[in-house]
Amino acid sequence: MKALEGIKVLDFTHVQSGPTCTQLLAWFGADVIKVERPGVGDATRKQLVDVPGADSLYFTMLNHNKRSIEINSKDAAGKEVLTKLIETCDVLVENFAPGALDRMGFSWENIQKINPRIIVASVKGFGPGKYQDCKVYENVAQCAGGSASTTGFRDGIPMVTGAQIGDSGTGLHLCLGIVTALFQRERSGKGQKVLAAMQDGVLNLCRVKLRDQQRLERGPLTEYSQYGEGIEFDDAVPRAGNDSGGGQPGRILKCKGWEDDPNAYTYFITQAAVWEKVCDVIGKPEWKTDPDYATPKARLPHLNEIFGAIEDWTMTKTKFEVMDICNPLDIPVGPILSMKEIAEDEGLRKTGTIVEVDHPERGKYLTVGCPIKLSDSDVEVTRSPLLGEHTLEILSEVLGYGQDEIDRIVGSGAVGEAKAVAAE
Ligand SMILES: CC(C)(COP(=O)(O)OP(=O)(O)OC[C@H]1O[C@@H](n2cnc3c(N)ncnc32)[C@H](O)[C@@H]1OP(=O)(O)O)[C@@H](O)C(=O)NCCC(=O)NCCS
Repeated sequence: MKALEGIKVLDFTHVQSGPTCTQLLAWFGADVIKVERPGVGDATRKQLVDVPGADSLYFTMLNHNKRSIEINSKDAAGKEVLTKLIETCDVLVENFAPGALDRMGFSWENIQKINPRIIVASVKGFGPGKYQDCKVYENVAQCAGGSASTTGFRDGIPMVTGAQIGDSGTGLHLCLGIVTALFQRERSGKGQKVLAAMQDGVLNLCRVKLRDQQRLERGPLTEYSQYGEGIEFDDAVPRAGNDSGGGQPGRILKCKGWEDDPNAYTYFITQAAVWEKVCDVIGKPEWKTDPDYATPKARLPHLNEIFGAIEDWTMTKTKFEVMDICNPLDIPVGPILSMKEIAEDEGLRKTGTIVEVDHPERGKYLTVGCPIKLSDSDVEVTRSPLLGEHTLEILSEVLGYGQDEIDRIVGSGAVGEAKAVAAE
């Protein structure tokens, strides 16, 4: 049995944020029915195409374990099918531009009339307020949520991160909102609206920077490198390069081979509890007792010198050797892994975090499997659906339409071209 078995999800999502959420629900066992515009589908199907004629990796990697039905939501017969889906489903998830669902005729009030138990979950760029009507993409959310202003180097421009904290991050937040609302519905019997705004999601992940903003009002941020460098703080949290986000100084340091390999680096944290071991490893035993280096506070003005000495040592080792030497000593380090190294990592494949999937149009490809492991709800990653692959199956099996009604609906053009059998 899967955790969310029996839960039906009307997946009205597109691009990345919403699909991330519904893919997780599908992995936890929900029946996720993805509604797509006839003949077009989710825009990502045809974005960043690498195999001509096949669904892109952008689409396939965000839409596993789902079924696809084509419905024109602006057509009368399409609205009829959607209304039946709303009647049948436990959750509707959408991430259209603000107001789009209302314009289709499916306002929260109307949806509640159709099915008072349904949970309507939305990703929007901003919560209620002056920006509520804006369309928002990943990097806009990273900028509006405080990530860009706090990422990068102090003397450089704001930076976005490679991790999709605005899209995938908000999808995760929404997913938690949905299962929480499902849990509440067990007692209340009622559905509710769930909103995850991308700005809020990014800010939630930047919580420590709002912490630092308030600390800054009381004095300099002593664990930031700029403090040790004697550079004054402004009135907003600065970009801190690769300084660690906690109270323990950390940096990215070169390892053996850095001249040719852009990822021959390690993250190294000079955690106070293991300072003496750090001194021994890097050949500076005298720093254990030297009053200028022996305590975390005394070390703050010397961080550049200290990390310089550590780097002199890490440059004599590969990033994996650094890991092998430091880990047994509880010195926190981490190799900078390239995507190539991650794709080839046997351990990640064993745990199902990296999965190979077969697809009828594109053949085998790698994807990120479910990152959350439940001991009693296994995840089997199955390929993403082709556009409209399950239209007929959903009309008959899920919605109970008879053949005459199916012919009428298909004939109206509201569900695209009928695909008689699921493609394999
Ligand atoms: C992502 C986003 C910027 C894309 O904008 P967009 O490509 O213009 O797409 P929209 O959501 O505005 O939808 C465009 C239209 O398609 C229509 N549409 C979508 N599915 C349809 C269907 N099955 N049948 C008919 N029309 C459909 C919508 O109703 C809308 O029409 P309208 O403008 O007349 O109301 C926008 O959807 C958005 O801001 N979403 C919320 C935030 C978000 O999730 N952003 C991150 C995306 S990873």
